[in-house]
Amino acid sequence: MNEILPVNTSSEAVLIENGAFNAGPHDRQIDEAGISPKLVALSEHDIHARAFKLLRTTLNRQVNEHGYQVIGVTSCTPNAGKSFIASNLAASMSRLSSRKTVLVDLDLQRASIAELFGILDQAAVSEYLLGSISSLEDICWSLGAGELTVYPTFLRKVNSAELLSGERFASLMSELRTIEGQPLIICDLPPLFVSDDALLAAQQLDGVLVVVEQGVTTRKQLEAALRMLYPTKLIGTVFNRSSGGLGDPYGYSGGYGAYYK
Ligand SMILES: Nc1ncnc2c1ncn2[C@@H]1O[C@H](COP(=O)(O)OP(=O)(O)O)[C@@H](O)[C@H]1O
Ligand SMILES: [Mg+2]
Repeated sequence: MNEILPVNTSSEAVLIENGAFNAGPHDRQIDEAGISPKLVALSEHDIHARAFKLLRTTLNRQVNEHGYQVIGVTSCTPNAGKSFIASNLAASMSRLSSRKTVLVDLDLQRASIAELFGILDQAAVSEYLLGSISSLEDICWSLGAGELTVYPTFLRKVNSAELLSGERFASLMSELRTIEGQPLIICDLPPLFVSDDALLAAQQLDGVLVVVEQGVTTRKQLEAALRMLYPTKLIGTVFNRSSGGLGDPYGYSGGYGAYYK
């Protein structure tokens, strides 16, 4: 497998604050044999899982304090590691017995969650948004006993902005919010600077995490991203491919400026 590079989680010091459900009767069980080795957080013993445990603890505190139920993961530009982080964070969360988790791929133009979980192409989120599928049960996949549920997306020729601003998207979000047991819902979003898709989706979310790629994301970009996102709440930032050390929660607060060009 490719080398997994460090992910530096936001510690309490760096978080910037603004302001048992049923998986359903279906046979959409994720085959563990098809899961990508990049899902490091699924393995309790993988050293790289540690960064995601730190991120999950920090996020859990925010979730409990503010009642966030649906959160997004975005970045300024593509390839920052949004899908990698959203998937591993969801996997890590779902390993906590008290935290059922749902992962939704909302990057309609560059969907990639299905590949990470080895889910084969069939009707999914786009079809639900287009209206050809009416029930969430027909597009969801379960891992294990249902502690992690995945709603994948496959690449389709669709008008993503239209879908993400439409009534079906609003009903997707309200249906997810009413899943029994109120699981935490983590949405893999598109990047902010490529189209308005991320901002459209973010309007329905309780807050977002922004992935910052060391040596690539500039301070100006991050500031512009935060302005764009307003009034959506910024829950925190996650440093990906960071040289601050694997899971070093103080790497960021100790050298804020050093992380930006
Ligand atoms: N910390 C990391 N270590 C190793 N590979 C990573 C890391 N972060 C991202 N990648 C890989 O880089 C590529 C781009 O990441 P991805 O999550 O798809 O980006 P995005 O969703 O922001 O476009 C993927 O192949 C992903 O597996
Ligand atoms: Mg992605």
